[in-house]
Amino acid sequence: MSIKYNADTKTFILQTDNSSYLMKISRYKNLLHLYYGRRIKDEDLDYLIRLQDRGFSPNPNEAGNDRTFSLDFLQQEFSTSGKGDYRSPGIELVNSDGSRIFSGKVSSYKIYKGKYCVKGMPSLRAVSKDKVDTLEIHLKDKVTGVEVILGYSVFEEKDIITRTARLVNNGKAPVRLERLMSATVDYRDSDYDLIYFSGRHMMERGFNRVAVENGIHSIGSTRGTSSHQYNPFAIICGKNTDEDRGDCYGYSLVYSGNFIFEAEKDQYGQLRVNMGINPAGFSFVIDEEEEFQAPELVLAFSDKGLTGLSHIYHDAFRENLCRSPYSKKQRPVLINSWEAAYFDFDEERILNIAKSSVDMGVELFVLDDGWFGKRDSDDCSLGDWTVNREKLPDGISGLSEKIHAMGLEFGLWIEPEMVSENSELFRAHPEWCLRAPGRPVTRGRAQLVLDLSREDVCEYLIETINSIVEDARIEYVKWDMNRSISDVWSGLFDKENQGETLHRYVLGLYHIMDEVILKHPEIIFCGCSGGGGRYDPAMLYYQPQIWCSDNTDAINRLKIQYGTSFAYPVNTMESHVSVCPNHQTGRTVPLNTRGIVAMDGILGYELDATKLNDEEKEECRKQVEFFKKHYSLISEGDYYRLTDPYSDRYVCAWQHVSKDKKKALVSLVITDKEGNDCQRYLKLKGLRSDTMYKVSGIKGKYSGALLMSAGIPVSCELREYESQSIVLKAVREK
Ligand code: DGJ
Repeated sequence: MSIKYNADTKTFILQTDNSSYLMKISRYKNLLHLYYGRRIKDEDLDYLIRLQDRGFSPNPNEAGNDRTFSLDFLQQEFSTSGKGDYRSPGIELVNSDGSRIFSGKVSSYKIYKGKYCVKGMPSLRAVSKDKVDTLEIHLKDKVTGVEVILGYSVFEEKDIITRTARLVNNGKAPVRLERLMSATVDYRDSDYDLIYFSGRHMMERGFNRVAVENGIHSIGSTRGTSSHQYNPFAIICGKNTDEDRGDCYGYSLVYSGNFIFEAEKDQYGQLRVNMGINPAGFSFVIDEEEEFQAPELVLAFSDKGLTGLSHIYHDAFRENLCRSPYSKKQRPVLINSWEAAYFDFDEERILNIAKSSVDMGVELFVLDDGWFGKRDSDDCSLGDWTVNREKLPDGISGLSEKIHAMGLEFGLWIEPEMVSENSELFRAHPEWCLRAPGRPVTRGRAQLVLDLSREDVCEYLIETINSIVEDARIEYVKWDMNRSISDVWSGLFDKENQGETLHRYVLGLYHIMDEVILKHPEIIFCGCSGGGGRYDPAMLYYQPQIWCSDNTDAINRLKIQYGTSFAYPVNTMESHVSVCPNHQTGRTVPLNTRGIVAMDGILGYELDATKLNDEEKEECRKQVEFFKKHYSLISEGDYYRLTDPYSDRYVCAWQHVSKDKKKALVSLVITDKEGNDCQRYLKLKGLRSDTMYKVSGIKGKYSGALLMSAGIPVSCELREYESQSIVLKAVREK
């Protein structure tokens, strides 16, 4: 068992192969956090708890005259509320008497094999070879009867502890919950940096590293989705932690709606981390005997630097998260119509593009936006999911058959969560969108958001999407979502329940995805929200790949994919080669580089293949061939960031290494160039020191030790934006 309770020290000990997590029941039955970090033994950590009479730090009643016990400075596993802990809390609620107090004391616990269950929301699952144990600790407020049950599932060999918190109202009156964090982790010191990923539409998941300072660092989303602006993933790491060395802690929330991550350095230089649903605009009425569960948080510790931490998440997300059988299968190389034609197409144009792409070796044609209703621009028809016969006289099934006759599979774009005011759906059901009474609507991309907190809307969408994907031969669906949510008010709730709307929207979305995506495992669903506006583990649970960004500029993509790689494996990032000058930035980059950058993900194309000349087509064909040849290395291997595009102006490089370390692929792009340039070397990573490798383009064979410490030269002949792929193969020693 990876979980133990030591009754002598009243300590819970959670052990993974390389980390330990300890907590203790205090003499007054508070649950105190003791330790999280490198693996230690079941030791008595009491000496770490230092009690002191501190000014303005109140003492709980049960401590009597003992002024040294205060929740104001002790590390806690889950904070109380309104009882003398003034740090950012794990819970806020309003009891039936109007008080805002929760005083949870340990009332019971349970240890069992297997994983706890998360109802209605995605979560990691144990696969056959995993050893997973679970601990549930009940914290009860005796006065109100409200209980918070903390859930910990330990994935022993994966170095992961998943967390959830469940509030159960065992009292005699409803309570209004205003905040319930999925987890709190209190650190004894605050000598850490915080790493988080921020951005905007078309420039997502930029890397930020800041020192933890006094006050609260808070990142999150209030846009209804996990957002382009901040990703629900953050890292707390030592000041000296780098890619290869040092301690780091990862926090990844399996949730697609509003989230918050807080890192608070308190008055005594201690650090509290909270992560969960964003309390802004959130409240939930919990009636007697009802409960509320916070989404799952995936917590990981690595003492092997940021690369080690990324590997933990990559392996777990690949193996334990995604439900699609495609997460382990080779995805087809696709060509998408969006940047090729936007809304301007008819069947002939689509068939011509598809036909021209056959020579490029692509395997799947995706028809993007514009195929339904009167959709010739982005201001109408969302909701009217009937084919536009003027553009496509034989309908989607007719088009799909013609595409299949060319030997290609067929994919389709949908944006089911939205409605245009200029649509039949809106005219029939104006009450189905989110909007507050008496207020003019707020438009985003000229569209409104359907109210997925309503059961009738969800059932309608399940039926509609299922018939779209079942009425034609469709192997791939791109599920888009193109605005941030506003005007949050749902026609079916009382005024006391309006704060539930956004979370219920997310639950409604998961319900739809359960009934549509999980019921069609033979179809690849690709997540999209204007590109990467909903790049989170919950979406990956349903969809094996996500359109990484609407920005297809290969040079901008280097930073976007770099940031994405900290938590998410390469085989989740859909990435396309598009034309130059690039439609978003106007930049011109060689086709080879566009291919190499797109292969740092799931390779695809997004261009008018009829406009490519024979030479370009041949180059694309070679890219597809290369990608397919190295598919398992790229998508299942270990990923190494060889450079940091924020600090290295000249070269951006990364490396895939097969799990058995016999093969590796190094990719590099020249991002800036100077005359009479310096000779640069790339130090490789992840190889076996004593194994000899052949390196493509370099004569001879070299040891892993040498390649990792002296590196390989970056050719000075490469010009700005040019790039290179280098393949390494272990030499079989006799
Ligand atoms: C946003 C997506 O990210 C694009 O790729 C494209 O599908 C458009 N929406 C279509 O409206």
